[in-house]
Amino acid sequence: GETVVRRERFAGGPARSFLSSMAFDDRLFAADLAVDRAHVVMLAEQGIVDAGDAGAILDALDEIEDAGFDALPDGEDVHEAIETAVIERVGAAGGRMHTARSRNDEVATCLRYEYRETLLGAIETTVAAREALCEVAEAERETVMPGYTHLQPAQPTTVAHWALSYEAALARDTERLFDAYARTNRSPLGAAAFAGTPFDVDRERVAELLGFDAVLDNSMDAVSSRDFLVEGSAAFAGLATTLSGLAEDLVVFANKGLVELDDDYASTSSIMPQKKNPDTLELVRSTAGDAYGGLTGLLTTLKGLPRAYNRDLQNASPHAWRVADDAIEATDVAAGAVATAEWPASDLEDAAGEGFSTATGVADLLAMCGLPFRTAHEIVAEAAERGADYDALDAACEDVYGEGIEALVEREAVEAALDPAESVASRDSAGGPAPEAVAETLAAALDGCATD
Ligand code: ARG
Repeated sequence: GETVVRRERFAGGPARSFLSSMAFDDRLFAADLAVDRAHVVMLAEQGIVDAGDAGAILDALDEIEDAGFDALPDGEDVHEAIETAVIERVGAAGGRMHTARSRNDEVATCLRYEYRETLLGAIETTVAAREALCEVAEAERETVMPGYTHLQPAQPTTVAHWALSYEAALARDTERLFDAYARTNRSPLGAAAFAGTPFDVDRERVAELLGFDAVLDNSMDAVSSRDFLVEGSAAFAGLATTLSGLAEDLVVFANKGLVELDDDYASTSSIMPQKKNPDTLELVRSTAGDAYGGLTGLLTTLKGLPRAYNRDLQNASPHAWRVADDAIEATDVAAGAVATAEWPASDLEDAAGEGFSTATGVADLLAMCGLPFRTAHEIVAEAAERGADYDALDAACEDVYGEGIEALVEREAVEAALDPAESVASRDSAGGPAPEAVAETLAAALDGCATD
């Protein structure tokens, strides 16, 4: 009686759909059922609700779960709708479910419960993407390719070294998702509206039943805080940034004929029959923009909110869901594009030598023969102007150093330094592109994937 009358008075009238979060609350359906169950079990264990009523409420929750979100009665949000559905089944005693809690601690708990799943799913997806990059590294350990700075040919490297550069970045993105998970995994329940409750609740027990690591102690903080969503969304924005670089590289490589994308990850033109465009990767690249927009939307929604609960918070979480879902999907697509791409070894090796990309290696060789690096740099720069081959180096050496290059080093060593594959093989410092160095990086990367 009483409950229904009050709900009718505050049903929202013309603002009803504006007030409602039902349009995006299906995301919290499973979480709310779990939170309701844990709360009711604790209430029964503490003797706050008797076992008979608790059992009836738990049975009703099972039925509600089976019927699904779409079968819920009308309500301002999923929390209210589930409570109404419980009361419909149990009668007035169903109203005991909401003893010693508020929707404020309820929704905060549901959000953390659901976001935890989202973060775990994201971690699995990033690990799968890292494994795909490791497989490329394994297969293309000796595949020489051009490396770029400023999009200009810079030094030869290998496809494996390139792939593992993104694996390393994604490993840190994964770490940030784990960090966000750790601070998400705390229970607000028992904070009630913000000011606690006179009932003898066991907050630790509810946290344990829901698999949270800890309780958020201060009850005002527990209902007010959404920084776990900020932290997670920032991690997703970072992940999307990594992916945007990966996608851009593949777009550029495809443009230069350095990689062949699988048809599944390309698209054609409705008018130009010859086209094969890297559309999926362009969309992956664009995800970063959406992620920054979502993170900014979330932060802007939270900025300046007073303690304790304010309804603005209802519009905070959809930003976080969108950012997460988009970044996870983009990770999955990028991983698929990487796993199915073909690397044309001989085109890559030809391109690797373009633009005198071995110049640094030649300068390194001259410096290893005793010249100050700056002098060596000058000789090679001069040679670059004159044709970038052995004869040009010899002439440049004469000019700058006063003697021909054979005074410093054997011709064979110079020719080797001019060869892209030899150049790569010589750069065997830790983390470098030489196949033995890459093998060590790869082994560590595979270890990291296995433990994450
Ligand atoms: N759907 C609401 C939200 O997401 C639930 C909390 C409503 N609480 C209140 N005091 N009006 O925040």
